[in-house]
Amino acid sequence: MEEYPINKVHRLLEPGPIILITTRDKDGITNVMTCGFQMVMQHEPPLFAVIVGPWDHTFNVLRSTKECVVAVPIVEQAETAVDIGNCSGADIDKFETYGLTQVSGNQVSAPLIGECKANIECRVADTRMVSKYNMFILEAVQAWFNPKLKDSKTIHHRGDGTFTVDGEVINLQNRMTKWQEYVDE
Ligand SMILES: Cc1cc2nc3c(=O)[nH]c(=O)nc-3n(C[C@H](O)[C@H](O)[C@H](O)COP(=O)(O)O)c2cc1C
Repeated sequence: MEEYPINKVHRLLEPGPIILITTRDKDGITNVMTCGFQMVMQHEPPLFAVIVGPWDHTFNVLRSTKECVVAVPIVEQAETAVDIGNCSGADIDKFETYGLTQVSGNQVSAPLIGECKANIECRVADTRMVSKYNMFILEAVQAWFNPKLKDSKTIHHRGDGTFTVDGEVINLQNRMTKWQEYVDE
């Protein structure tokens, strides 16, 4: 995996892909859950929000360790992503069950997922919205991109177990006159 520029990390999530959130608890046990409710909030420092409910084993681990990795899976992992979201780390080892490769990050102890297109190491920046909305505000502290999966398609949950696969790109960069800093040359 190659390091991905932290000031561009919003580009990994702004299209709204389904994400996998990994954690490592205080005993060193790792876990992964599926999350569709995610939102980019700020460019610098890069902040985004994820909704992780108290029904998830991940909830307490994230709240106590304040660290996670947000991984972006590809269409070939669609079935795995759904299955990961239909079982709990309280019951099984999902990394082993689904044959996912744990890769060490640099900043947090939660693992990157080797098979994913991108991985973002995150620290919980703000928990004030957790009690009301189950909303964790995350700061991306380092990001990674798998160059071999550059052309792989991401998947986008439509809210009912159906997904849209990443499709045609329309390039309107020449109209981004006010926002040139977000447009590559
Ligand atoms: C497509 C899909 C999207 C999901 N999105 C969310 C979400 O945004 N927030 C959430 O708390 N749970 C979401 N879930 C449910 C969790 O992934 C599920 O409760 C999972 O079992 C939690 O794993 P854990 O107990 O190991 O943390 C989603 C599940 C699926 C299949």
